[in-house]
Amino acid sequence: MRRTLEVTEALRLLNGGPVVLVTTRWRKQTDVMPAIWTTPLAHKPPLIGVVAHPSRHTHDMIRFAEQFALNFPARDLMNHAQYFGVVSGRDVEKLDLSKLPTFKALKVDAPLIEGCIAHIECGLEDALRLGDHTLFVGRVLAVQAESDSFDETWLVGEPDYRPLHYLGSDRYAVLGERLQAELRTTEEGAIELAETPEERERREEEEARERERAQREGEEE
Ligand SMILES: Cc1cc2nc3c(=O)[nH]c(=O)nc-3n(C[C@H](O)[C@H](O)[C@H](O)COP(=O)(O)O)c2cc1C
Repeated sequence: MRRTLEVTEALRLLNGGPVVLVTTRWRKQTDVMPAIWTTPLAHKPPLIGVVAHPSRHTHDMIRFAEQFALNFPARDLMNHAQYFGVVSGRDVEKLDLSKLPTFKALKVDAPLIEGCIAHIECGLEDALRLGDHTLFVGRVLAVQAESDSFDETWLVGEPDYRPLHYLGSDRYAVLGERLQAELRTTEEGAIELAETPEERERREEEEARERERAQREGEEE
């Protein structure tokens, strides 16, 4: 089930650096490219950044359309992500050729990719040339996410509902486990680390050995 979330949730969706498929549409032409250089930029208004090289067709599409959408693939779309990352929309209509179904976005003209676990729609707020890349600043207009994938944070539940991460080359990964930090401080404000299960096991074993030794010594006296 797909849910519409508050636009501010977009910033948390970006935590952990998931791969996104950037979709664009301009004058009946569509394009899609994977991006890993993305970042939350501001809460109020909710702004996110996508960094693209000027050689990418997507770069021109964002400039002309002044809009774009981010689609978060899970592992079943890994090979599609790789394909979209090695061919250019300047040469082929990638999205059509991939035969991936799409659906209409809520606020932008760019299509959204069916089967992705979350989507962020953006209007172009600014474009900053930084070295040989351009940082496109997007104002978040709408956010949707699968409830099996995201609820305040990524859930890291069923493997098919986890976001996809990019390691480089043709290597990808998914998150393995969601952990919860437990923060305790001393009166002075210093961190007091909670015992890990392994540390507790070691301490209990040591205490048991100590008791046995004390008992033996008591019997020998
Ligand atoms: C997983 C992955 C992540 C990528 N991330 C970025 C990125 O953040 N910025 C960028 O400019 N190119 C990135 N690339 C390269 C572009 O996706 C690639 O050049 C693509 O073919 C451009 O398509 P286009 O010309 O249709 O826009 C990435 C490639 C892969 C496979």
